[in-house]
Amino acid sequence: MARVFSGIQPSGELHIGNYLGAVQNWVKLQMEHDCFICIVDYHAITQDYDAAALEARTLEMAVGLVAAGIDPERSVLFVQSHVPEHTELAWILTTVTPLGDLERMTQFKDKSQRQESILAGLLNYPVLQAADILLYRAGLVPVGEDQIQHLELVREIARKWNTRFAPGFFPEPQAQLTKARRIVGLDGLGKMSKSMGNTIGILEEPAAVFDRLKPAKTDPARVTKKDPGDPAKCNLYSLHQYFSPAATVEDVAQKCRTAGWGCLDCKRVLADSVVAHFAPAREKSRELRNAPERIRDILHAGAEKARAVATETMREVREKMGLLAAHMPSGVGR
Ligand code: TRP
Repeated sequence: MARVFSGIQPSGELHIGNYLGAVQNWVKLQMEHDCFICIVDYHAITQDYDAAALEARTLEMAVGLVAAGIDPERSVLFVQSHVPEHTELAWILTTVTPLGDLERMTQFKDKSQRQESILAGLLNYPVLQAADILLYRAGLVPVGEDQIQHLELVREIARKWNTRFAPGFFPEPQAQLTKARRIVGLDGLGKMSKSMGNTIGILEEPAAVFDRLKPAKTDPARVTKKDPGDPAKCNLYSLHQYFSPAATVEDVAQKCRTAGWGCLDCKRVLADSVVAHFAPAREKSRELRNAPERIRDILHAGAEKARAVATETMREVREKMGLLAAHMPSGVGR
């Protein structure tokens, strides 16, 4: 059974785009696979970020993940910077990664366009991602659609290192997408993302969910209540398909096509569905917040388990690359 690895940025809020696009898959996969779920703080610092807020956002993401169903007994849940081997392997992998491949990455091109000075960390972002995955020799990487290109590069890096140093050592990891491969934000403009403010957090209080939905974009043809709409052109209809019961989904489509109600009515129903779907998660998050040490303990235990695997991979990597083993005064190790 292939080992699973995936990562998520410590953006604080785990939102329904993260959930539908990837996290729900992690929750399922952990039943049958050996899963490593990593909060990638070293990736988060490759762009402008608020140092005063990072720690709280990292903890909040961990709470969100456990609340969403990541079971720390089944999955190894940890913070990237707690396992220094990630950056160690990343350095090594830069030595087999062609510069041109990094410059070609769509995400790098997009992100660097918004910057006056382009930093090497942003360019090397996918190399760190390769290190994340290869450190655990994972074979399966459940991610959203926007990560496909990075995964292709990870395979390329694995091939290059294998060819040079040890054929077959790193598996070439495969991406795994959910049905909801790309969730559009509530503003209808682009991918749902915390930095765009176009999200609904999974732990949002019930009243806040409807407040988020009120200004959300629907089928542009529906200017007034009397204009019939096309569910296929409404971003919120796709959310109904994920969160509302089948009978409700049908009813919603019918009322949209026949102008049987206004978009706000439809949003109220969607809010109820979302609120109901995440009721267990909100409950779980309350428990976790009442015992703040609990989440730190989970991350600490996760980092220990991750490190046990990571140090072993690094030992083999160094050996295969001809790096001199460090001298152990007590004679333990090599
Ligand atoms: N780049 C990923 C994203 O933005 C996060 C990530 C970092 C990741 N390392 C990873 C995902 C390793 C999968 C595997 O979503």
